[in-house]
Amino acid sequence: MTGRPRATIDGLPAYRPGKDAAQAEREHGIADAIKLASNETPWPPVPAVAAAIAEAATGINRYADHRASELRAALAGHLRVDPAAVTVGPGSAGLLQQLCLTYVDAGDEVVYPWRSFEVYPVYTQLVGGVSVTVPLVDGAFDLDAVVAVVTQKTKLVFLASPNNPTGTVLTSDDLNGFMDRIDSTTIVAIDEAYREFNDDAVGDPVRDVLPNHDNAVVLRTFSKAHGLAGLRVGYLIGDPRVVAAVDKTMVPFAVNAIAQAAARAAIDADEEIRDRVRFLRNERERVVAALRAAGHTFPDPHANFVWLPIGDHTDEVALALEQRGVVVRPFSGEGIRVTIGTERENDRFLATLAAVI
Ligand SMILES: Cc1ncc(COP(=O)(O)O)c(C=O)c1O
Repeated sequence: MTGRPRATIDGLPAYRPGKDAAQAEREHGIADAIKLASNETPWPPVPAVAAAIAEAATGINRYADHRASELRAALAGHLRVDPAAVTVGPGSAGLLQQLCLTYVDAGDEVVYPWRSFEVYPVYTQLVGGVSVTVPLVDGAFDLDAVVAVVTQKTKLVFLASPNNPTGTVLTSDDLNGFMDRIDSTTIVAIDEAYREFNDDAVGDPVRDVLPNHDNAVVLRTFSKAHGLAGLRVGYLIGDPRVVAAVDKTMVPFAVNAIAQAAARAAIDADEEIRDRVRFLRNERERVVAALRAAGHTFPDPHANFVWLPIGDHTDEVALALEQRGVVVRPFSGEGIRVTIGTERENDRFLATLAAVI
């Protein structure tokens, strides 16, 4: 035996990323595959962000600003919150892990509806925590059932809104009603990786929930709407005491200088990014209408993907799509999650799905 991994690592499932197009091409001996498997934006960064990346690359002989002070200040200004209420991390996935490191000791409980984002069970187990899951109802969260399992042992609750992979959403009223029933010794992480794709009517938990509940935190990312998935930069907004505790678990210089510069430029490019989001939302509505016209049933999507709960047919349909060059994300026995891409990509998905089914 080489070394002795902790017992919890032996049983730990590895995170499974979506398959990329090149891999699918190699596996199936095809060309021209498209990837609709990881909820990325289909375009390269907007020009101002690409320029900021190129400029920052010239200075990477130096360490980055560990605290990312300028990026935090820019985010705080954008969000109209105290700079001490914001921290950044290597993707919101990095910050989710930091929350577990900060709050969860061996044997502590972490509560989340399931199915949801795959890292929740992985990170919980990593720190020796115990996952307590609550089944979805028609793809949506049953918050009464979540409240019912939160106890003094619960250190952390994860609520993804929109949820990955079902795309359902919690409004600010839902969240405030939930928080009113949760003890302040439990941290509730509202994971908003896809918030830019929401309707305004859903509300903004940074404005509507955090001022009333200092045990709530909101996580957001530059990976999805802002198109910086490959650079790894996410952020957390919460009470400054929570932010200070979470910061202690950050790997030194975890958000590199290029990522910091790109994120700052992306904040300034807000209008262009909103245009892209508008386009993807319109495409989402078009895809939804086509799928429903073809007889598919699924919850209303609020993110940049659509969830098709096709149950036992999942693996078979996902494989057939992939063999025809459309790579989606299967959740065996449950359904497929399909990212909204360019108009051409979405047309190809719709046509291929119709042919396969
Ligand atoms: C619900 C949810 N939260 C967080 C993330 C992590 O995103 P990132 O680490 O790229 O910020 C994802 C990515 O797929 C997600 O689906």
